[in-house]
Amino acid sequence: MTATTGTSTEPATRVEGLDKVTGTAKYAFEYTAPAVAYAWVVQATVATGRVTAVAAEAVLGRDGVIAVISHQNAPAIAATDSAFSDLLRGPEVSYRGQCVALVVAETSEAAREAAARLPITYDEGRHDVLFTPAHRSLYKPEGDGTDTSQGDADAAFDASAIQVDAVYRTPPLHNHAMEPHASLAQWDGDSLTVHDSNQGGNSVRKALATAFGIDESAVRVVSNHVGGGFGSKGTPRPAVMLAAMAARHVQRPVKLALTRQQMVDLTGYRSPTIQHLRLGADADGRLRSISHDSISQTSTAEEFVEQCGAVSQVMYAAADRRTSQRVVRLDVAVPSWARAPGECPGMFALETAMDELAVTSGLDPIELRVRNEPSGDPQEHVPFSSRHLVECMRRGADVFGWDRRSPTPRTRQEGRWLVGAGVAASTYPTNILPSSARVAVDADGVFTIAVNATDIGTGARTALLSIAATALGVPTSVVRILIGDTDLPKAPIAGGSAGTTSWGWAVVKAARELLATLESEHGGQVPADGLEVTASTHADIKAQRDLSRHAFGAQFAEAWVDVDTGEVRVPRMVGVFAAGRIANAVTARSQLLGGMTWGLSMALHEQSIQDLKFGDFANRDLATYHMSANADVCDIEVEWLQEDDPEIGAAGTKGIGEIGIVGTAAAIGNAVYNATGVRLRETPMTLDRIIGQL
Ligand code: MOS
Repeated sequence: MTATTGTSTEPATRVEGLDKVTGTAKYAFEYTAPAVAYAWVVQATVATGRVTAVAAEAVLGRDGVIAVISHQNAPAIAATDSAFSDLLRGPEVSYRGQCVALVVAETSEAAREAAARLPITYDEGRHDVLFTPAHRSLYKPEGDGTDTSQGDADAAFDASAIQVDAVYRTPPLHNHAMEPHASLAQWDGDSLTVHDSNQGGNSVRKALATAFGIDESAVRVVSNHVGGGFGSKGTPRPAVMLAAMAARHVQRPVKLALTRQQMVDLTGYRSPTIQHLRLGADADGRLRSISHDSISQTSTAEEFVEQCGAVSQVMYAAADRRTSQRVVRLDVAVPSWARAPGECPGMFALETAMDELAVTSGLDPIELRVRNEPSGDPQEHVPFSSRHLVECMRRGADVFGWDRRSPTPRTRQEGRWLVGAGVAASTYPTNILPSSARVAVDADGVFTIAVNATDIGTGARTALLSIAATALGVPTSVVRILIGDTDLPKAPIAGGSAGTTSWGWAVVKAARELLATLESEHGGQVPADGLEVTASTHADIKAQRDLSRHAFGAQFAEAWVDVDTGEVRVPRMVGVFAAGRIANAVTARSQLLGGMTWGLSMALHEQSIQDLKFGDFANRDLATYHMSANADVCDIEVEWLQEDDPEIGAAGTKGIGEIGIVGTAAAIGNAVYNATGVRLRETPMTLDRIIGQL
């Protein structure tokens, strides 16, 4: 194992980069169709209750308004895996901001104007949007994997010489992808084509086919370029379903784009969490007991569980352990995936608690983690396919200059700034999903890769090109790539950090089979009409050994805290990751840097505020939803270790989309503690939470 920076094959800038910077790369809303109409979402102005009347006649037939669609006249759609129970299927309102009607007009402006004027009356109920651990509706979600227990975590905690017992909180957080959710839907008889902004066309196709009772082969989803998603486009969301419903209703192509304000209610968000951590250790810092009991909020329309405890199942050795997850069902918008759902808030709690344990036991935080390194998966009792957390910690310590940190809080001051350093671990599971891919070669020796992957801005196209070229043993200049269309071989979503690993495996498999066929049947000579091979990894994934597969990393942060105001600045961060093979150094660095930047933003700025009176979120745009801007994001160094893991598929990658955000906020909070002696157990770490304690 050697630590190096970016030595993968052919580091390359995005193949679609020129198209993007010159504005020729087309996003969903930029496609058009003859006689296209525009739909606008009308949102509920009450948080719970029933729609009693929609006065469509007030706007219909005027100013280019073509139709008003509500539960009274909407095309019937069947329930799908992705629910949509709240989408014009009945008069019930389950959260403020829910779509209760669509206005369709000749122009987007006319639709928007009419939507604002459309009179809707409600029978308003009493809403409850207060997320509290004492809530009477707290319940254990269905489905497995949420609760785990081994030994007796409470008894072992009670018997421990050193104890950390604390509660950590994270607020609701919104994904806010740069490109709002948008769709163009076109029906041709019972065939449907949509251009849609999503993280995976195949799941959108399945949802549309199910909803409208048509065969999947009658639905085509094109998602050529996507401007971010971070989980908010990971499952089919309302925009595409509403566009298809509207197009069906008016018998014309329909375009629908959400505004940023509408996205706050309609595209998901990270649930707030309250997490109770109890760590019990012997005097030498070795953990005997870990318990991680979490609660999060969900909606009455659909269940979503932010599973914070998952990280405590894999990180550290301890004979006695427990994780539990409870949810509170409130009259709120439907929460969903946001980058590293579960792991991100979970690691804020666990890695802050580990720092508290380091302080209590008088150990260096890195040494504490080394002492608690498990020999295999401590919950599942199977080996790790590879785990280089300690190596990431050691390398990060060197790069960061950890040895210059004073272990005693509040010992370094530069003018009015208290200065400190903190560390936290990162982890994210290596998810691998079945995929298929086609590789073709023509008589000129040009290869074409075809796979319905989605590039949501990550550089997936470019990474797949590198993977394909390596497998084929040719330069990328003779390889073409086709993605983002359900007409291409079926592939899983760009989510769960599983995209490149899953698609890449199928691409490598198809490439190897093509080369083998070329050699065995054609003597290495491409036939005049070319040759192509389609491969699938379904069987390969089923045949995988029972191992624990995860990426690991170490995050270091330096914090400066204003001694008078409590303002926190983070001038420097270092992240070192072990995530298998890095397919493309340029885009990988950008992914990890982006994850760490969001972690910084979570630590210092981001929070969505649930309005108890009205029931929806109070901060609904990028002016009021504060996030780290250029002046906040200073020096961030990203490195990775070369990690060869033969147990994670032929692409050899572990996924890097999410691990970058995991642990960052804890590293920053731990640095704030080191700088000030003030322990923050809640994000964001705004000055009001610090100033009184300085
Ligand atoms: Mo990621 S939150 O699974 O898109």
